[in-house]
Amino acid sequence: MCEGCEKASPLPHDEILRWLRETDEVRLEPLWTRADEVRRQHVGEEVHMRGLLEISNHCMRRCAYCGISSASKGLPRYRMSAEEILQCAREVQRLGYGTTVLQAGEDLVLSRDKVAELLRNIKAETGLAITLSLGERSESELKAWKAAGADRYLLRFETSDPELYGRIHPSLEGTVSDRLALLLGMREMGYEIGSGVMVGIPGQTWEILARDLEAFRALDLDMIGVGPFILSPGTPLDGPLGADLRAKAGSEQVPADELTTLKLIALTRILCPEANIPSTTALATLDKDQGRELGLMRGANVVMPNVTPTKYRTLYAIYPGKACIHETALMCRGCMEGRIHSLGRSLGSGAGGRRQGSSLLLSE
Ligand code: 5AD
Ligand code: FES
Repeated sequence: MCEGCEKASPLPHDEILRWLRETDEVRLEPLWTRADEVRRQHVGEEVHMRGLLEISNHCMRRCAYCGISSASKGLPRYRMSAEEILQCAREVQRLGYGTTVLQAGEDLVLSRDKVAELLRNIKAETGLAITLSLGERSESELKAWKAAGADRYLLRFETSDPELYGRIHPSLEGTVSDRLALLLGMREMGYEIGSGVMVGIPGQTWEILARDLEAFRALDLDMIGVGPFILSPGTPLDGPLGADLRAKAGSEQVPADELTTLKLIALTRILCPEANIPSTTALATLDKDQGRELGLMRGANVVMPNVTPTKYRTLYAIYPGKACIHETALMCRGCMEGRIHSLGRSLGSGAGGRRQGSSLLLSE
């Protein structure tokens, strides 16, 4: 039983909805202040850096929102070799990050045994904390990867509304996709679990988004990533499906904008005080000047600088115009560090896992 579920929610449903619909900057001030205060009390001033490695853009799924889905026929595909990945992990360590995140589409060539061997090598050589984000994988794979050294797993549930989920995320033949069950299974295996949603996906209403937030809390997630939906040209959401879903939501359709994303980050922090929450690349893509900083000022405490070799970055095209696409790992490190220091915050040290229990103020 998760601790979070037992405690009364700090925000009742109608208050969540009221904040989500609020657009007046002056009236939003108390929300920003409260989220920043909860962030400071529970996870402190440190901003943890996770070195993100996009190890393969092969994907067997056809998610309606995603630019690297198997339906994106024109996209050149790549898969990094084990040696390339290990080299990058060494770079993550040299850059002083405590964690590396290995992300890919759902790529079955990244088999149980290959990934397990890679994890053992990364762990033995670097001692980094390892987060996986490799899609919906089998129990046997997940268990083997945990035993081989993986510490955390990211799998966004994308929306808590079953009907909308079914429309944007077609099942593979003969299988049912149940990401919530997968996440709970991973927790049992000893992973820290992370999830999240996109803001403003066609068909997402304010009510659905409020329930997404409540699901974050009910799941007692260790990590929560939220970013704006960015239309990927040529995907089903760029066509009749997107139009149909938007029409269905009508005036209740959530906009995929910066303000709504920041409100979601702030509400997530208040509802899940201990979670590690990144200021995402998708947010930085919408606002290249200030997006990262604003995320960190509204509740986030993590950034995920990209360490993927530059030649592969443009091909990991989940959505267009991604921030940092041409920068090297070293440039991203310098840029992030400058942004963190400009806010008067410090760089996180160590693995930066979830800190459970009482607030920092009470325990220090
Ligand atoms: N816009 C924004 N985020 C997206 N993701 C996938 N496609 C898009 C898009 N078009 C997010 C999903 C996925 C994560 C890896 O990237 O939430 O889980
Ligand atoms: Fe790759 Fe959805 S298209 S996980």
